[in-house]
Amino acid sequence: MNKIQLSFILLLATPLFAADNDVSVNSKSNLLLVHKTPTCGCCKEWVKHAKNHGFNVTTQDHQSLEKIKSMYKITPEYRSCHTTVSSNGFVFEGHIPSKYIEKFLSEDHPNAIGLTVPGMPLGSPGMDFGDRFMPYDVLILFKDGTSKVYAEIRK
Ligand code: CU
Ligand code: CU
Repeated sequence: MNKIQLSFILLLATPLFAADNDVSVNSKSNLLLVHKTPTCGCCKEWVKHAKNHGFNVTTQDHQSLEKIKSMYKITPEYRSCHTTVSSNGFVFEGHIPSKYIEKFLSEDHPNAIGLTVPGMPLGSPGMDFGDRFMPYDVLILFKDGTSKVYAEIRK
């Protein structure tokens, strides 16, 4: 390969690298709006966790989250305490470790609603009680009502 061919290839490759960078910037440039109830303590702890991870987070208090959860089609078996909505319209239910939100937002998921950690597993972010830990899964929720394991959290 001569020099001219090589520089042509590099020229072609440059926009790909640039696009890659944009994706990672975008995943955290999403604003997260956390819908929660005013007295929920673990919700506040989770908000701290997401902020510490570099997310721009705002909160909104509601007496009941029933309407919000139904609006985003989070059926009862997938529910937790708080419901987070990203500015590009995905839903992150409950005590999800922020790094998976970041990962999800950097990927392409046209058929997904978002992620959930159903219930409130001990040892998940915002649910810290000493060193108690309960293994749990982060699930991806799809528009057709199904779900799949997105990440297994085993410690
Ligand atoms: Cu909670
Ligand atoms: Cu919560």
